[in-house]
Amino acid sequence: MRVNGEIVRNPDHWVDLARDRVTLDGKPLRSAEKAYILLYKPKGYLTTYRDPEGRPTVYDLVTGAGTWLSPVGRLDLDTSGLLLMTNDTDFAERITNPEHKVPKTYQVKAATLLADEQLEQLRHGVGLNDGPTRPAEVKRLRESAKYTFLELTITEGRNRQVRRMIEAVGSKVLKLVRTAIGPLRIGDLPIGHWRELTTEELAALGGTGGHATRPVPAAVARKRQPDREQRELTSANTSGSARRESRGSRAGKTDRRSKS
Ligand code: URA
Repeated sequence: MRVNGEIVRNPDHWVDLARDRVTLDGKPLRSAEKAYILLYKPKGYLTTYRDPEGRPTVYDLVTGAGTWLSPVGRLDLDTSGLLLMTNDTDFAERITNPEHKVPKTYQVKAATLLADEQLEQLRHGVGLNDGPTRPAEVKRLRESAKYTFLELTITEGRNRQVRRMIEAVGSKVLKLVRTAIGPLRIGDLPIGHWRELTTEELAALGGTGGHATRPVPAAVARKRQPDREQRELTSANTSGSARRESRGSRAGKTDRRSKS
């Protein structure tokens, strides 16, 4: 490899592809085009590249993405929902660094009935073994005789944070779906599928680059139908006070399934 005409053999040599002229076998090297995708991760898929136990990973679902992508943060094995993947490390850092306070929204099925006081505790912040949580937005989604269905929005993203918050108020998470990151909604993307972010979505998240993304025409934006995964959390017996919004618009881009 040559950097600005000088031979470089050190694989750790840093280059700035915007300024340095880098060639390999005489051919110029360019940085990979930035790519941003939204995957609806199903339960049972690990947010890692390879599992020593051979369990399925999110990489099994994005094989058609055409470039190497890393997950932006992670979702537990038992969590489903919106997972961003990108090769833009600055973007990933902006989304995951708690200092930037990018809200992440989850729908939760808790194993017990939670009283308003317990929800108030979640709103104010609860004590976890790695410190108190920041205030959270908490809404009841629907009434049930046995369970509590909530929408919880947090701005941190600590390990198993939502599960630990629910445990801190004396209950347990039975089902967890991430439905939004900042203004980005999972929309009506089918579970296990992925699509590229639109330029509008990327801009709304503070991103700049991207390939083959395009704005969502207003006519295409439509109310989402909750996926089967989420239906239990939001539909049926919905109370008057519960939020029943159909949120998000879907991208103009066709979604894709990786394993086709
Ligand atoms: N909080 C959790 O407890 N698990 C997740 O996967 C994401 C947020």
